[in-house]
Amino acid sequence: MEVPFVDLKAQYLSIKPEMDAAIGNVLEETAFIGGQVVKDFEQAFEKEYGVRNCVSVANGTDAIYIALKMLGVGQGDEVITVANSWISTSETITQTGATPVFVDMDEFFSIDVAQIEGKITSRTKAIVPVHLHGQMSEIAKIKAICDKHSLFLVEDCAQSHFSALNGVLAGTTGNAGTFSFYPGKNLGAYGDAGCIVTNDDELAQKMRMYANHGSLKKHAHEIEGINSRLDGIQAAVLTVKLQYINKWTDMRISNAKKYTDGLSGIPGLALPVIRPNSKHSFHLFVLRTEKRDELAAHLEANGVSTAIHYPRILPLLPAYAYLNHVPGDFPVAYKAQNEILSLPMFPELTDAQIEHVVKSVRSFFNV
Ligand SMILES: Cc1ncc(COP(=O)(O)O)c(C=O)c1O
Repeated sequence: MEVPFVDLKAQYLSIKPEMDAAIGNVLEETAFIGGQVVKDFEQAFEKEYGVRNCVSVANGTDAIYIALKMLGVGQGDEVITVANSWISTSETITQTGATPVFVDMDEFFSIDVAQIEGKITSRTKAIVPVHLHGQMSEIAKIKAICDKHSLFLVEDCAQSHFSALNGVLAGTTGNAGTFSFYPGKNLGAYGDAGCIVTNDDELAQKMRMYANHGSLKKHAHEIEGINSRLDGIQAAVLTVKLQYINKWTDMRISNAKKYTDGLSGIPGLALPVIRPNSKHSFHLFVLRTEKRDELAAHLEANGVSTAIHYPRILPLLPAYAYLNHVPGDFPVAYKAQNEILSLPMFPELTDAQIEHVVKSVRSFFNV
């Protein structure tokens, strides 16, 4: 049996008539950039997320960059973030002119809150925690640190749509929360897309302006900006999908439980650890084993696709050689980098597929 890492076709087929009609409507209206369909999506997301503003942008990378830039982060500043993430988190810090300052992770793959204050200097301007894999960082503690040191807080929620900790949704604690709608994300468009949520109306206005060449009205350029807009087709796709996000998140959680039930107690294999009172939305289901590469090869031979998120922690990438980090600077994240393996995870995984994955993992460990 073949088990793909994600199956976007299965999801499309489950909503095909509705989706085809929504896309067809954009074509009929030739509403390709901006317009009502984009406003409708922003309003639907605001309502579903319980926030005052959703500023749609072209992708999740721009979302982080625009938020930091409009908060005033720039040349000479430092921004603290976690060592294990996708490069968008740190490259956007650099793009503002600031320097990323990396912190090791905790056992939940989140920034180790206990180490943050040790990295704060007079140049620190903001903290960007990443709610990786679908599980939130300790956001209340991070917010307290930001308040104490007058720092901005931008939550990278690219992997954590509708995740929550102690009932607080990802992205709603900081000055801004940034989302990616890359096709494989929990809420995925049919191309690149992203948004920023904030309860700060003034910040929302600035970000909206910056993302649209510095203008809110045609030809009235208050500032120089960039071109980072959500297109109509993506907005229509996302509006349809938003109606199903709670159901799909529950399906992910249920699939994760089935994996957990089938794979618990295997010596040498660690399963995702969930914080108390955490709603983990399982964008990814990440195993840990010292025999990671052998397990991945065994699963591949059994038709099971896997992936590594991510094979090298950010500070050790060639892009950050100038920071002169060594593995010992981030011992927890570095150890994890060589042990992590993401299993297939998407809402439409069938019981037969999950059973096949479980059986294949178990056969590798001879249990
Ligand atoms: C943690 C994290 N941050 C940011 C991004 C950037 O999102 P996008 O690919 O939409 O630019 C991603 C997505 O790949 C991500 O996983």
